[in-house]
Amino acid sequence: MYVPTLRNSLLGVLALSLVSALPVNDTDPATNSKGPRVLILGGGVAGIIAARTLYGQGIHNFAIVEARGELGGRLMTYAFGAPGREVSLEVGANWVQGTQTGDGPENPIWKLAKKHGLKTQYNDWDESISTYDSTGPVDYLDVFKASVDHYTALTVAAGGRVTQNLVDTTARTGYSLVGAKERTPHALASEYYQFDWEYAQTPEESSWIASSWGNNFTYDVDVGGFSDDNYMSLDQRGFKYFIQAEAAEFLQPDQVRLNATVKSIAYSSTDVKVTLASGETLVADYALCTFSLGVLQNDDVVFEPALPDWKQEAIQSMTMATYTKIFLQFPKKFWFDTEMGLYADKQRGRYAVWQSLDHENFFPGSGIIFVTVTGDFSQRIEALPDSQVQDEVLGVLRSMYPHITVPDPIAFHFTRWGADPLFRGSYSNWPASLFSEHHENLRATVEQRLWFAGEATSQKYFGFLHGAYFEGLDVGHALAECIRNDGCVGLEHVKEVVNARPYKL
Ligand SMILES: Cc1cc2nc3c(=O)[nH]c(=O)nc-3n(C[C@H](O)[C@H](O)[C@H](O)COP(=O)(O)OP(=O)(O)OC[C@H]3O[C@@H](n4cnc5c(N)ncnc54)[C@H](O)[C@@H]3O)c2cc1C
Ligand SMILES: *[C@@H]1O[C@H](CO)[C@@H](O)[C@H](O)[C@H]1NC(C)=O
Ligand SMILES: *[C@@H]1O[C@H](CO)[C@@H](O)[C@H](O)[C@H]1NC(C)=O
Ligand SMILES: *[C@@H]1O[C@H](CO)[C@@H](O)[C@H](O)[C@H]1NC(C)=O
Repeated sequence: MYVPTLRNSLLGVLALSLVSALPVNDTDPATNSKGPRVLILGGGVAGIIAARTLYGQGIHNFAIVEARGELGGRLMTYAFGAPGREVSLEVGANWVQGTQTGDGPENPIWKLAKKHGLKTQYNDWDESISTYDSTGPVDYLDVFKASVDHYTALTVAAGGRVTQNLVDTTARTGYSLVGAKERTPHALASEYYQFDWEYAQTPEESSWIASSWGNNFTYDVDVGGFSDDNYMSLDQRGFKYFIQAEAAEFLQPDQVRLNATVKSIAYSSTDVKVTLASGETLVADYALCTFSLGVLQNDDVVFEPALPDWKQEAIQSMTMATYTKIFLQFPKKFWFDTEMGLYADKQRGRYAVWQSLDHENFFPGSGIIFVTVTGDFSQRIEALPDSQVQDEVLGVLRSMYPHITVPDPIAFHFTRWGADPLFRGSYSNWPASLFSEHHENLRATVEQRLWFAGEATSQKYFGFLHGAYFEGLDVGHALAECIRNDGCVGLEHVKEVVNARPYKL
């Protein structure tokens, strides 16, 4: 039977009678139900790595609670294609972003992908690209190359601001100050490719400093980044396979609850009670919440009492962005032979970034191509019926190929990440108005019982799989330390985030 460490807690005593706890077996050394109980809410990369960390620290009395029928979270595979021509594609995360340079720091996702024999393929984003606009194929690779230089100038100038302790501004301000004032559709599409395609939001919506850090810490070897290459998962078991295989190495069946949607989390200084959609209640000494920032922002899970002001301000100050891949399958390939295609519409960011999967490096003969949209444009298409989005995308393809009769696709799919109550967006982005203290508060512990981790809580790698990994690792270690000490303050917060100088009128 589960024994709460905090024996005097009334809730803890009640828990023994009220709650149908997870099955535990005291005599089984593998599940060792002794010691404080931890509920890990959410079974994505952060949750699984946090669980692995506790396990590695000898703490086995935990369970992962996950709403979906499998682990992996935003690593999500979809069997796409007409009957007989299906390919398992990634509607969520797709690339290991930054791998390793020499014997420098290695992206832990890359390490796990190799460990579990994942099939991956280098994806050339810079040199293998064809350019188009609304009149058809047009070579503006010179403009494209200039946009790469502008982006570098942006990140270098951001570093200068950090050194001189100058305030943050938007990346748009930054672009203007480094002299990159793009005006033409070609230049704007190229800028979109460098910026929005990564951050899923516009330079106007993004912090200049944090977006530059985000780039550097992952891609720039000089400041501890992994490497500047991107490897795409082509594994037909799904990209998720690497994390599911990792979980299978230590998780016992009674340490994971699938199909279990959390509705509310009641917390106090003594324990945490998690109520599921089924009505069942689970009680624990600690809970680690790894739900996406979007889930926290949208009150999909109710906290009792409401989260403190400093935590709510942090949650509402970071942004949950949306990134949408739209897949099309045609009877046969009629498009570019490069890996990537860039389309410059008169409207910035309108169906701009294309990738051919019917390519010798990916899925030759598949007839599949996909186009990515982000930010407000993602929200716009999520509100439209599939048929209308398909018509718009075909309209773009027909302007890219004015001399070809572009047929209707035989398969079409995109995932509405923004509308999904388990995600409410794709990944987080750091706006210019968010202070570092806000970000610390995002990951800080509440009432010593409620812990937080996920891609959004990573200061260096927000948005990335490796961000989720490092947060699961860090918070897992901090929580293990806390448990060993029989309680702790947890990760500390700043009570009020204040201006360095008052705003004056
Ligand atoms: C379209 C897209 C493309 C991306 N591309 C890349 C990429 O190429 N490379 C890269 O590095 N990163 C990419 N990312 C980001 C990456 O997927 C995330 O950073 C990472 O997967 C987040 O892991 P996490 O554990 O923090 O959160 P999640 O994976 O979201 O895990 C949280 C879990 O909580 C569960 N949950 C939510 N609500 C509840 C509830 N009420 N009750 C119970 N369970 C609940 C969810 O089902 C989920 O499994 C992409 C993301 C998306 C969506
Ligand atoms: C508990 O675990 C032990 C050791 O693995 C096993 O022998 C025993 O049958 C288990 N008891 C129950 C009730 O599952
Ligand atoms: C979860 O639900 C799905 C769909 O209803 C079902 O197929 C699956 O077996 C369930 N898994 C578990 C572990 O309950
Ligand atoms: C990013 O990296 C560049 C090149 O190494 C460096 O000059 C710049 O200072 C870095 N920017 C930030 C914000 O750290």
